[in-house]
Amino acid sequence: MDDRPIGIFDSGFGGLTVARAFIDLLPEEDLVYFGDTGRYPYGPRPLDEVREFARQVTEMLVERHDVKMVVVACNTAAAAALELLRFEHDIPLIGVIDPGLRAAVAVTRNRRVGVIGTVGTIGSGAYQRAAVSQRCGVELSCYACPGFVEFVERGETDSEQVHVLAQRLLAPLREAGVDTVLLGCTHYPFLARTIGDVMGREVVLVSSAEETAFEVRALLDDTGLVRRSGGKGAHRFVSSGDVDLFRRLGSRLLGPELDDVGAWTWPSN
Ligand code: DGL
Repeated sequence: MDDRPIGIFDSGFGGLTVARAFIDLLPEEDLVYFGDTGRYPYGPRPLDEVREFARQVTEMLVERHDVKMVVVACNTAAAAALELLRFEHDIPLIGVIDPGLRAAVAVTRNRRVGVIGTVGTIGSGAYQRAAVSQRCGVELSCYACPGFVEFVERGETDSEQVHVLAQRLLAPLREAGVDTVLLGCTHYPFLARTIGDVMGREVVLVSSAEETAFEVRALLDDTGLVRRSGGKGAHRFVSSGDVDLFRRLGSRLLGPELDDVGAWTWPSN
């Protein structure tokens, strides 16, 4: 039993998709969500830089919030840093890449799965490596979708412009004949209506959020880290960017639990 909170982080609003699933599945656990909106987006940055950001965020969650577990709810950060973070910390760390891939593999019928993500995630080859280590026997078609994250961060989830961009970026996936698309960026579930519309109704969209939350629950049970106190958990939200914007857009995207946002400022070097 362990009453410390669980830390979840992302470059911005994307990890709220994972936080939503987490709150629904584990309502009694305490949560600290950190959105690094002051330094978003992570996707176009070199992986070394993202790795350093992920190390700083994890250290901050461990040292200032005394978290018992960290969920790296950002594919780009997980691709860049998960292995290193696991090596550097003795608390459990969970990413979104393995859970997401498992969920997509469970759904596909024709064994052709599309994966979309940021330039950093797709360029890292993390999904191909995960497919090899899971021995899942599916053919992956991986494509970066630069620009999607920026639409979400502006709160523009179903405009004509994002639709036009989706038509262009998703064209190769339509040609590849995939029957499943894994949303390999935690921001993308907020664009699910647009992506689904472009891909067609016969293609199933899979998000890593639910599967990741199930993995957190399994790990809490296995490690005996479940919160003892019972009752509803407390949810704290912290942003390194504009906290008013984070509260306004975040509560629209996550729901009423996001009613207060704390500010975090990175020390300047
Ligand atoms: N949500 C992050 C991910 O899953 C990426 C967002 C960004 O580019 O900052 O990859």
